[in-house]
Amino acid sequence: MLLRTDGGGKRLVVLTGAGISAESGLPTFRGDDGLWAGHRIEDVATPQAWIRNPELVWRFYQLRRRALLRVEPNPAHIALARLESAISRMTVGDAPDSGYLEQWEEHWESFSNDRFVLITQNVDDLHSAAGSARLIPMHGQLRFLRCEHSGVIIEMMDEQHLDPDCFILSSVREGGLMRPHIVWFGEQPFGMHAIYNALYKADVLLVVGTSGHVYPAGGFVHEAAANGARTILVNLEAPQNAEAFDEIHLGPAADVLPSLVDEWLAELEQGS
Ligand code: OAD
Repeated sequence: MLLRTDGGGKRLVVLTGAGISAESGLPTFRGDDGLWAGHRIEDVATPQAWIRNPELVWRFYQLRRRALLRVEPNPAHIALARLESAISRMTVGDAPDSGYLEQWEEHWESFSNDRFVLITQNVDDLHSAAGSARLIPMHGQLRFLRCEHSGVIIEMMDEQHLDPDCFILSSVREGGLMRPHIVWFGEQPFGMHAIYNALYKADVLLVVGTSGHVYPAGGFVHEAAANGARTILVNLEAPQNAEAFDEIHLGPAADVLPSLVDEWLAELEQGS
């Protein structure tokens, strides 16, 4: 039985990537018409690019921020939220809506020992919109901007915050800018302490919709397997780290995941 042993509940850690949001209408990164297809990563997704050509970087992310207004969670996001509410046991507070990174780190630590933790590389807000609460967005979140001087992070999604031609000035230092709250190449992902804590204690790691190209996330399957977790993949096609998984389900996540979750929850109910 996947989620329950005679001795009690198992811990499930989930890692998602762009593939889970594909059927909500958001492009993945590495597909033929993917996000990176028209852009070089070094031009839009590095701290050097922000210094060299902030207008280009700003425009790239403002268009992606605006795209959030027209997308909704699909059945795969909703299936993960159902799974979480069925198996998590600890109460969890709301994620901060403004503040400093330390406040988010504290929030992520508060549930890293729970029976369910969802790590996402996605910067959209579709997991929260679907109702997932034990969520670590390790590559940042499009909804937020961050002051490049003080580090204060603020949710900014009103119409006046979404103009691709107009920077938002930081209130901290004259001429300072609010930057996308996104982890760029060369920067440290967020929540790594809570993430490794969850991975080391996982009995099951479920990975959905990611090519495994970007580290450290591409290596999580090896970390969890080395600690004895069963590793399960749901992906459109076999990714480059496919050999690391115990179980592989190929197909669109919005088709495959809801029936897998139904199966696991039915087993759980029979066992309780
Ligand atoms: P990729 O674009 O690299 O990979 C998306 C994966 O999803 C591929 O393996 C596809 O086969 C799969 N896929 C596509 N449609 C799917 C569907 N409907 N159902 C299931 N799977 C599907 O995206 P990521 O692996 O998320 O980082 O990329 C990882 C990171 O690379 C991103 O977070 C981003 C990028 O550079 C940063 O920006 C820091």
